[in-house]
Amino acid sequence: MHVGATGPVLHYLSWSRPSCDRQLLTHPIRGRGPGVVHVYCSEAGIIFQLHRGALSNCQVWRLQLFPSTSNQSDSSMKDVYQVCLLGCGHRGRAQARAYKAHPRMNLRALCDIDRDRLNQLGVKLGVSSLYADLDEMIRKECPDIVLIPTATQFHFPLTKRVLEHGCHIDVEKPISEHLDQADELLSLASSRKLRIAVHHQWRTAPAAAAIAKALQTGRIGKLRYMYASGKGYYGGYGLPNIGTHLLNMLFELAGRVRTVSASVLTDGRDIGPEDVLHSPAGMGIVAGENVTALLEFENGVCATLLQHRFETMDLNAHVVEVYGSEGRLLWRPHGAFWLPSPAIPPGPNLSNPPGENAHWEPLEPLVPDTWDPGMDCQVDEYTFVDHYVRALDEDRDHPSSGQEGRHVLEVINAIFLSAVERRLVSIAGLPRSHPLVEFRKAAGLSPEPEPAPFNPREWLEVEDRRLGR
Ligand SMILES: NC(=O)c1ccc[n+]([C@@H]2O[C@H](COP(=O)([O-])OP(=O)(O)OC[C@H]3O[C@@H](n4cnc5c(N)ncnc54)[C@H](O)[C@@H]3O)[C@@H](O)[C@H]2O)c1
Repeated sequence: MHVGATGPVLHYLSWSRPSCDRQLLTHPIRGRGPGVVHVYCSEAGIIFQLHRGALSNCQVWRLQLFPSTSNQSDSSMKDVYQVCLLGCGHRGRAQARAYKAHPRMNLRALCDIDRDRLNQLGVKLGVSSLYADLDEMIRKECPDIVLIPTATQFHFPLTKRVLEHGCHIDVEKPISEHLDQADELLSLASSRKLRIAVHHQWRTAPAAAAIAKALQTGRIGKLRYMYASGKGYYGGYGLPNIGTHLLNMLFELAGRVRTVSASVLTDGRDIGPEDVLHSPAGMGIVAGENVTALLEFENGVCATLLQHRFETMDLNAHVVEVYGSEGRLLWRPHGAFWLPSPAIPPGPNLSNPPGENAHWEPLEPLVPDTWDPGMDCQVDEYTFVDHYVRALDEDRDHPSSGQEGRHVLEVINAIFLSAVERRLVSIAGLPRSHPLVEFRKAAGLSPEPEPAPFNPREWLEVEDRRLGR
């Protein structure tokens, strides 16, 4: 056997027993104890058997490396995770470039049922293992992590299928269309000891990390209140789209939400069952042009989340503002700022006490040590990937975990329930069924609204016609 001569480069050998509990390791070779050698290679883990000190069995077993669940030495913690991509669309391309760039990840195969997209990305990234069938890809490539950047309605069935293969997941946001689906995915992942990361890359992005650090190091004193706004999508659609990111960022700063009360209006009035619609882009069942939610966190901090429909999109509206006892923080998609005053208007201002002016100061973005601006990917994506490496190394969840992704859906469902029942809703004991589906059923309508256009612009045209505009 010539590992390293023609195949992947050999870079680590150890004489310990395999200590990870992947399905593959239920093979009899696991029981042979001291006769097993680990060989860690640049492209895959390979395990083979030594007999009385000599190579007698040349069968080679591909093995998923789980440094985090093992007792391996620090050197094996430097192993490379094997990654497969399922979906070569816009988001798949962005993720693939970041995984390709990270030195601890090996993007070994791509899958898409769209042959053109698949081939184009394969050529662009120099990845030659291309598949149209995800089961075949996983069987042959044995990845540690599968990325699922597909349209939202496929997240649940595909994530479930990939978990059943025994792989960790990086699924695009939102984790699923429905809360009970998220429950099922988390319980499957937990029973298999697998990790789900939900791709809310802004939560860990350099600008957001600078905001979190400023808060943790006391630069605005005690956290009092937060404000988060989308950029003008139809509110109900904005929630699972941009709201998922904003909620994740609020969770990073203040933890979990305890109660929700919300105003959800269509055409300036409370939503009715007929206003419950299929979202554009397959993001589930939604309602409301303008969504305004008051979130009360378990630590007593409150936040307002706005998803208001604008005539035209306004990227400047897309912010998170953080108010503390001694200052304020401002997050923009690619910037972080600190104002060392809780109340004084920024800049020279006649209403400020003489000599007491406050200026927004930019905060240094926090980038991973291994980041190089020459890399062919976005730093936010790269940082998300870097967090996944560290999480798997340390046998813990990504900060943007499946649990956090499910909590996003809990808050969104609580917003809709609060609007339907005109009351404060506790997250504890929240029904797992969809409140808007229940709303329709209670009114004698079919649980599912009529099909709606997938394309957001066409969707809005249909909605405006429905509203008589
Ligand atoms: N994180 C972000 O910043 C961000 C931004 C925009 C969109 N999103 C999310 O990204 C997702 C949409 O991503 P997109 O726009 O790239 O989607 P897309 O539909 O353009 O691409 C998905 C690809 O997956 C392929 N695919 C679907 N099912 C498959 C299967 N069973 N086997 C193989 N291939 C399959 C499709 O053929 C397609 O090429 C949504 O969930 C959305 O919420 C995230």
